[in-house]
Amino acid sequence: MQAKQPEKKWKAGVLGATGVVGQRLVQMLGDHPWFDLTEVAASERSSGKTYAEAVSWHLDAPIPESARNLVVKGLDPSLDCDFVLSALDSSVAGSAEEDFARAGYPVVSNSRNHRMDPDVPLLIPEVNAAHLDAIPRQQKNRDYDTGFIITNPNCSTAGLVLVLKPLADAFGLEKIFVVTLQAISGAGYPGVPSMDIQGNVVPFISGEEEKMQLEPQKLLGKWDGSRFVDAGIGLSAHCNRVPVVDGHLECVSVGLKKIASLDEVREALRNFEVGAELASLPTALKNPIVVLDDENAELLAARGFLKPRAAVAERKLAEPVSR
Ligand SMILES: NC(=O)c1ccc[n+]([C@@H]2O[C@H](COP(=O)([O-])OP(=O)(O)OC[C@H]3O[C@@H](n4cnc5c(N)ncnc54)[C@H](OP(=O)(O)O)[C@@H]3O)[C@@H](O)[C@H]2O)c1
Repeated sequence: MQAKQPEKKWKAGVLGATGVVGQRLVQMLGDHPWFDLTEVAASERSSGKTYAEAVSWHLDAPIPESARNLVVKGLDPSLDCDFVLSALDSSVAGSAEEDFARAGYPVVSNSRNHRMDPDVPLLIPEVNAAHLDAIPRQQKNRDYDTGFIITNPNCSTAGLVLVLKPLADAFGLEKIFVVTLQAISGAGYPGVPSMDIQGNVVPFISGEEEKMQLEPQKLLGKWDGSRFVDAGIGLSAHCNRVPVVDGHLECVSVGLKKIASLDEVREALRNFEVGAELASLPTALKNPIVVLDDENAELLAARGFLKPRAAVAERKLAEPVSR
């Protein structure tokens, strides 16, 4: 089945549009075939200004023309849009997102506040689209009418779980041990003080290891019709901040339930395909995992020249240890 292009474009709003994540959303909506960006919202510091005046723009591409002159609004849930994407600071995201959902807006959030709520889908569409079945229960529980909340995972969790999914399906997962090397853009703007990160590696990111140990359990678990059932995987995460602007690297050791050869692992990763409906969406990839064969390709990926959703460097796939 192919996803059907809407007859008219949907109107999109971005909450937290002036922040680092919000800017990326604004950029992606600037030229979207299905959505028109009609509203941007942020704090009182920004509201009343045009978007171009309010934002401290950090992306390589210029501010989209469609966004430059939008007037930044506050967090009153009376925006002229069909749904909102939220990139609000977590100090305000929790209640603001609930207000918008209660007022009838579908809310898709990048913030951590509602990720682990028992009736809120934590979603990587390629991994657990079936968790969207929880929405009617959420609306009933919370007395929402047309509104609801969906969240996406922490950035380092997203890359990890996308790669774990085909391994979980093919072999089952027992234990995961992951060490991250995370870019400074993940800390927002102005983020980590330059004197802390220049020429340094910071072996601590507040709350990150907890998120990486919890979120995959929900993502790889199941919605059983009334609640999310965890995947029950043993998971240990160590998170480090490194002086790289964009792109997180993760070194992952995986204990599989079924013994598999390196070739079988490689094939499972390579052959991972999303369904036809998802693949036909404007920004989706049919094969979101790229397995890199040689050292040169791996170096290019590390520099950001190859941009899959998740790249697995094959050279570093160690032969399984027999148990
Ligand atoms: N899922 C992921 O992959 C991922 C990755 C990184 C971050 N995040 C999450 O995404 C969110 C945004 O991160 P970021 O790095 O973009 O942060 P950021 O650069 O600090 O931006 C925060 C945004 O929230 C707004 N804001 C702050 N206080 C507010 C208030 N009291 N009322 C209304 N708006 C307020 C800011 O508006 P002003 O400019 O007006 O202050 C700004 O637009 C955070 O919750 C973060 O944890 C998710």
